[in-house]
Amino acid sequence: MLKRVSPYIGEYKKYTVWATVMMSIGIIANIVPYFFLYQIISPLTRGEQVGASFILIRVAAIAACEIIFSVTYVQGLTFSHIGAYNTLKNLRVSLQGKLEKQPLGNITELGTGRIKKVFTDDIDQVELLLAHAIPEGIANTAIPVIIIVLMFVFDWRLGLLSLVPLVIGMFAMGMMMKSGLEKMNAYYESAACMNNTIIEYVNGMEVVKVFNKDGDSYKRFGDRVRSYRDFTLDWYKVCWPWMAIYSSVLPCLVLLMLPFGSMMVLGGTITLDRMVLVFCMSFAVGPSVLKALNFAGKFPQLDYKIAELEKMMEHPPLKEGTASFKGSGLNVEFKDVHFGYEDTEVLHSVNLSLKQGTTTALVGESGSGKSTLAKLLVHYYDLDSGSITIGGQDITDMSLEALNDQVAFVSQEQFLFNTTLYENILIGKPNAAKEEVLKAAERAQCNEFLERLPDGIETQAGDGGKQLSGGERQRISLARAILKNAPVIVLDEATAFMDPENEEKMNAALDEIVKDKTVLVIAHRLSTIRNADKICVMKEGKCIAADIHDKLLNDCPEYKKLWDASVSASTWKVREA
Ligand SMILES: Nc1ncnc2c1ncn2[C@@H]1O[C@H](COP(=O)(O)OP(=O)(O)OP(=O)(O)O)[C@@H](O)[C@H]1O
Ligand SMILES: [Mg+2]
Repeated sequence: MLKRVSPYIGEYKKYTVWATVMMSIGIIANIVPYFFLYQIISPLTRGEQVGASFILIRVAAIAACEIIFSVTYVQGLTFSHIGAYNTLKNLRVSLQGKLEKQPLGNITELGTGRIKKVFTDDIDQVELLLAHAIPEGIANTAIPVIIIVLMFVFDWRLGLLSLVPLVIGMFAMGMMMKSGLEKMNAYYESAACMNNTIIEYVNGMEVVKVFNKDGDSYKRFGDRVRSYRDFTLDWYKVCWPWMAIYSSVLPCLVLLMLPFGSMMVLGGTITLDRMVLVFCMSFAVGPSVLKALNFAGKFPQLDYKIAELEKMMEHPPLKEGTASFKGSGLNVEFKDVHFGYEDTEVLHSVNLSLKQGTTTALVGESGSGKSTLAKLLVHYYDLDSGSITIGGQDITDMSLEALNDQVAFVSQEQFLFNTTLYENILIGKPNAAKEEVLKAAERAQCNEFLERLPDGIETQAGDGGKQLSGGERQRISLARAILKNAPVIVLDEATAFMDPENEEKMNAALDEIVKDKTVLVIAHRLSTIRNADKICVMKEGKCIAADIHDKLLNDCPEYKKLWDASVSASTWKVREA
């Protein structure tokens, strides 16, 4: 397990080493007092006279040992915590880095709850391993081992006796771990499920309220919480009896030592001073072993959590190249593209070429794969087979930065960061001057609503942009893309939320923006793309025809159907009463 964590300890390894050194000094300081104790007890049991100074010096030495132990213990814990928390930081940064390179689909599949749990709770558990289990575990194992060895040195029979509670305790612990392990996976699954449900419940509160689904939704929430409770109790129920056995048997060493030791003293097989010393030492064994075993009990849990963490990190990352963009020209080619989100393929052998400086539109029924094709061009996912090239260079060959420099994407689902609208637009080109940002906002028709907002462009967008309407969010995203000014533009229903008047203005702005660019546009109103250089008709994950509007209207019945539906929708009015 430590091997799994050690790459993340990195340069902080020295702190863990120092912590172990400190703890080892503490262990010595913990054991040495027994020798001073022996020196005090020995003459007393033989009735020899010793001076007060003889005793005082040893008492002072014992006190000094205790001080050394306290200081090294605190120092050891300080070092181990510095090492541990820096390792947690490394783990989180590394996880974030790996998550960033994952196809988006994998992240959505995992669920926010599970990701949050791994990022916070599971990684926090590593603290227990590094900051406590390693240094304290070592100390609490070493102390009883040394003491038992010493007991054997003093008297092998008492040494043997000291092993009895230890063997019983270890057996109980082993049984607890074995039966606990069988239930552990189910327990953690249930915890992850509860996490996801809680997050879903909170995020979906709006839908729940509007559709009066309080009851249903709460029932699911309640079921998951109850199931978590049941799994927890189930787990504890199998662990408790064994826990009770080892926690009551381990401190029993003292009780065994006293009668057996006394009998041996009376039988003359051991001297009184040795028996008293062994008796005193037996006090230290139980609590230390108990602490060590408690840490040992945590290891399977930790192992599970680290495995979970690794599972998340070991998902094959996106096939991202390192090359910069070195394509010749900006023609985009989709060649024999096959893609499926999970097991079912949603795009089947799509071939499409976008000529540099032209606009290509994707049309088709809902679910025909338009957005999926658009997302593949910005490398949200890896293809199952086939290729996508820009200027002849495969997009998997270039780094995401290089690809992002070439392509701007305004997606169907808009996400804004909870910062000012200005900052949200600035993401498109972080080094842009203020005038450029304002100009981009104006071109994306943002001014009309920015003027209404109390802080204008400095207004906070709210969590995910929730303080804006869908159309407003979309216009901010568009401003971001305009500012970016990439040579290839992908617009997925960029004007879907707009009223006709704004849409007209926006289309005029778009016409200007997309001039001389390679554009892939998906529009719900076909009238907006009738002048496109090429229109690709998608059906059930295939590109069934690609031509200009007039030709398609004649040759492609599927397109004619879509066109008629779109025209009748735009002329459709609510019948006047
Ligand atoms: N993240 C996802 N995981 C699994 N399946 C998905 C995912 N996103 C889309 N799909 C499925 O892939 C298919 C194509 O979806 P896509 O979003 O590309 O359609 P679309 O043509 O853009 O539809 P619309 O016009 O409604 O936006 C659909 O069957 C959809 O259910
Ligand atoms: Mg779509």
